[in-house]
Amino acid sequence: MPSVLFVCLGNICRSPMAHALAVVRAQDEGRTDLVFDSAGTSSTHQGEPADRRTLEVLRRRSRVVPMVSRPVVPDDYQRFDWILAMDGSNLATLRRRAPGHAKDKVHRMLAPTTGGDVPDPYYGGADGFDHVHDLVADALDAWWPRWTDPS
Ligand code: 4NP
Repeated sequence: MPSVLFVCLGNICRSPMAHALAVVRAQDEGRTDLVFDSAGTSSTHQGEPADRRTLEVLRRRSRVVPMVSRPVVPDDYQRFDWILAMDGSNLATLRRRAPGHAKDKVHRMLAPTTGGDVPDPYYGGADGFDHVHDLVADALDAWWPRWTDPS
């Protein structure tokens, strides 16, 4: 039962986008064996729904999945097989906090595509959220076989 945690700073913009797109794809493919969640390295927005601009993109280009912001907690390093960071700052924070055995679970979200950052769209315009969607959707295409192919 592969389990994946998507992580950004606030858990209201980028990681909810990845989380929702992954859940929708799993639903559409009937994959009840996959577990997805998302969290933030910061707890600033804990308890809040996803940013309305993320929800707007999801409504227009996919489907909305109920999500509430929460911070990364120590147990996440046990519970999840893959912990995917949206940018280099999130990656460094996650690696620093990871217990030794879990450091290898932490990767960049875009490792299998551009290898770069999913840029933080919070202070930018609405088109930044469409760009997040595109980067994350391409990366999910690339990650998917690793989570679904028997090996
Ligand atoms: P996210 O975006 O990390 O993609 O959820 C942000 C959300 C909030 C803030 C920064 C980035 N903030 O500074 O409050």
